[in-house]
Amino acid sequence: VVVNLASVERPIINSKSMETLEDFENALDENDESLTSGMIYAYAAISQKCGYVNFTPAVTADVPALEQLAKRNGVVLAGKDGKTGQTLYKTVLASMFQKRGLKVEGWYSTNILGNRDGEILNDQEHVKSKISTKQGVLPSILKYDDFVHQVHIHYYPPRGDLKEAWDNIDFTGWFGVKMQMKVNWLGCDSILAAPLVVDLVRWVHFLQGLGMSGNVKELGSYFKAPVGLEENDFFDQWLLLRSLN
Ligand SMILES: NC(=O)c1ccc[n+]([C@@H]2O[C@H](COP(=O)([O-])OP(=O)(O)OC[C@H]3O[C@@H](n4cnc5c(N)ncnc54)[C@H](O)[C@@H]3O)[C@@H](O)[C@H]2O)c1
Repeated sequence: VVVNLASVERPIINSKSMETLEDFENALDENDESLTSGMIYAYAAISQKCGYVNFTPAVTADVPALEQLAKRNGVVLAGKDGKTGQTLYKTVLASMFQKRGLKVEGWYSTNILGNRDGEILNDQEHVKSKISTKQGVLPSILKYDDFVHQVHIHYYPPRGDLKEAWDNIDFTGWFGVKMQMKVNWLGCDSILAAPLVVDLVRWVHFLQGLGMSGNVKELGSYFKAPVGLEENDFFDQWLLLRSLN
C-alpha cells in the first residue's frame, strides 16, 4: 500500500489530460505540466496494483483517469486529507447543532502550527488546497449554507508540531436568542495523524484482499474530503465504517 504524505500541492490546472486513462498516458509521454507529482506517484502505485491512500489535500488519484485504472487493476483507493484535528471536532459539533435545531450564524476557525507542513501552508497558493478541504465540510452537515464560515491557517514556528486551533461559533436558539461556543484545541499533529495512517494501510490491504476496488466510501471518517462520499457528519461516517464489519 502506498500512502501519499508529501507536502500540500498547489491546486491543479483543470485539463482534459486527466479525463481518461488514454489521455493521462498521452499527457505523461508529452511531459504535460498539468499532471502533478502527486498524480504521477498515484499512477505508479496503481499501475503496480498497490493500494493507494491520499492523506494530503492534493488532487492525486481522485481524477477520472486514475479511478478508471484503479478499477481495472483491482486497486483500492482512499482519500483525501486526513481528518485529525480541527475538522474532526467540527464535523462532530456541527452534527450536534443540526440535530438540536440550533442555527449556526457564523463559524470562525483559526489555527497556528509551526512544523514544515505549516511552513508550506504559509505559501498563499499551497494553502488554497487545504482551506478548500477544511471549508467544504459544514454545509452538508448543517443542511444550509447561509452562515459565515472563515478558516485561517498561520505558520508560527515556536509551536513546532504542537498545533493549536480556536473556533468561535455564533448560533441562535428559540426566539433568535444569540449564543456562542468557544473551542480551544491543543493537539500534536504527528501523534494525531500516525495511527490513522497505520489504520488506513491495514484497511486498504484488507479490503483489496476482499476484491474491492476504487474509492471506498466506508473509509470516509478518516478524511476531511472523502472521495465518493457526500456525507461529512462524523457519526454517519462512523456508522458506514462499522458496516464493513
Ligand atoms: N495531522 C497531520 O499531520 C496531517 C493531517 C492531515 C493531512 N496532513 C497532510 O499530510 C502531509 C504530510 O504532513 P507532514 O506534517 O508530515 O509534512 P512534512 O512537511 O513534515 O513532510 C512532508 C514531506 O514531503 C516531502 N515532499 C514534498 N514534496 C514531495 C514530492 N513531490 N515528492 C516526494 N516527497 C515530497 C518533503 O520533503 C517532506 O519530507 C501534508 O500534505 C499534510 O497537509 C497531515
